[in-house]
Amino acid sequence: MRLGLIGLGRIGAFHAETLTRLTAVESLVVTDAVPQTAKRLADRLDVEVADSAAALLASGVDGVVIAAATDAHPELLLAAVEAGLPVFCEKPVARSAAEGVEVLRRVSGSGVQVQIGYPRRFDEGFMAARAAVASGELGWLHTVRSTTLDPAPPPPAYVAVSGGIFRDCSVHDFDAVRWVTGREVVEVYAAGGNRGADFFREAGDADTASAVLTLDDGTLAVVSNSRYNPRGYDVRLELHGSEDSIAVGLEDRLPLRSVEPGATFPAGRPHDFFIDRFGAAFRAELAAFTEVVAGRRTSPCTIADALETGWIAEACTLSLAEHRPVRVDEVRTDGVRG
Ligand SMILES: NC(=O)c1ccc[n+]([C@@H]2O[C@H](COP(=O)([O-])OP(=O)(O)OC[C@H]3O[C@@H](n4cnc5c(N)ncnc54)[C@H](O)[C@@H]3O)[C@@H](O)[C@H]2O)c1
Repeated sequence: MRLGLIGLGRIGAFHAETLTRLTAVESLVVTDAVPQTAKRLADRLDVEVADSAAALLASGVDGVVIAAATDAHPELLLAAVEAGLPVFCEKPVARSAAEGVEVLRRVSGSGVQVQIGYPRRFDEGFMAARAAVASGELGWLHTVRSTTLDPAPPPPAYVAVSGGIFRDCSVHDFDAVRWVTGREVVEVYAAGGNRGADFFREAGDADTASAVLTLDDGTLAVVSNSRYNPRGYDVRLELHGSEDSIAVGLEDRLPLRSVEPGATFPAGRPHDFFIDRFGAAFRAELAAFTEVVAGRRTSPCTIADALETGWIAEACTLSLAEHRPVRVDEVRTDGVRG
């Protein structure tokens, strides 16, 4: 198949390498808003360049991967769907859930498959955790703890268009909590910290956040995020049930230092970057997309899934701003109960 890739920054450049290595992908055409970025990458990987997203969509591709900055997602996604092309679009669908609802409305009924990028759904640890919950071996869950700590802040320009830490970073935790437990979030209570660089505050964002989520079966989930964790990229999910407790990310490369006398765990080189931690999951996710393009499976993470996660982010954003618990139903504007 012939695929197009739009947006060649941090994640787009990595996706380009993955796509050139997938046997299902016979040719790849790339574009970026910054032409030199596209040219440099195309020279390095020996792929074609299109002058614009429109030119790429018209170049005979069978499917499109969108890894451009978040604010460009709705326009690019809708253009691809209007061209009848299956789309993989990086999370989030849009900068706000309201915009995301509009995207879903316009895509609904098109019959075009759209996959949103939530790579934890393709990580072996997260898949094992989901299977453990589904099997009942944990008993009933009382506590879930989901952690994502970035080693260093993204650039100010990224933060300015990211939609804020809940929509940009915590959404991975929210999606993991929903997907692994199979439950919906009904209420959130969020707090934010601003002890880091001024550009977070200037963008109306927090550099650190915590949220308590109440699930529809009464389970409590605690989500913890920060842009400042120089020890490494720390992603964990703990599930505590009435029968057993399990953890994702509790392995030798966990970026955490024990101060217990004699403790030698974790001993490995800490994960230093999200691609280092989730490289295999990102590759599996795009391999799944080629199956979607080939018509062999439906999207493993739909716009509706991403929007449900988006409502949780909206509720957390409001909770932080107003300093109070917020029910997810309060922020929904799609009229659909999740
Ligand atoms: N799923 C994940 O785990 C994950 C991880 C990282 C980033 N992301 C998402 O991927 C997207 C990109 O993130 P990044 O870290 O690579 O950002 P980045 O800033 O490094 O790269 C963005 C690229 O998009 C290009 N771009 C912007 N608007 C464009 C347009 N209209 N057409 C073509 N190119 C355009 C920019 O020139 C830049 O090269 C964001 O939406 C982010 O949320 C997802």
